[in-house]
Amino acid sequence: MAMERTLSIIKPDAVHANLIGKIQAQIEEVGLSIVAMKMTRLSRQQAGDFYAVHKGKPFYESLIDFMTSGPVVVQVLEGDDAIKTYRKVMGATMFGQAEPGTIRANFATSDAHNAAHGSDSEENALIEINFFFPEKQIYHRSESIAE
Ligand code: CMP
Repeated sequence: MAMERTLSIIKPDAVHANLIGKIQAQIEEVGLSIVAMKMTRLSRQQAGDFYAVHKGKPFYESLIDFMTSGPVVVQVLEGDDAIKTYRKVMGATMFGQAEPGTIRANFATSDAHNAAHGSDSEENALIEINFFFPEKQIYHRSESIAE
């Protein structure tokens, strides 16, 4: 399987509910590594740019309101087949459709308040990672660590 990177966001609902660590534990348990991470509060401009593909959809304005309502944790995940692996552990977007045990089954409370975001393709993963992190802020796991 190909080594890939994907972008993950722990959304304001999950940050507010003290779930950062539990979500990161689920990510690490499926073999993905967190290779970049920051807590930040998105501006309306940033959230609008990030979710530009959804502009005009009925949920767009409330999505921007929600994503700017509190801090988020933005992280780059790396591992075998990272995009699909993360989407699988994250679970389906729509509330009630996520497989039991997934992050969203465990922690989402509605379609909108769904705890986490993940890139949906290789192309979008690259765009979304570049949106938040310059390459030099991403940990290269092949670097050796000091003895
Ligand atoms: P996310 O993976 O972050 O991508 C877009 C977000 O829009 C999605 O998760 C949901 O949180 C939110 N959203 C709210 N309502 C809908 C909807 N009806 N269809 C798709 N996404 C929705």
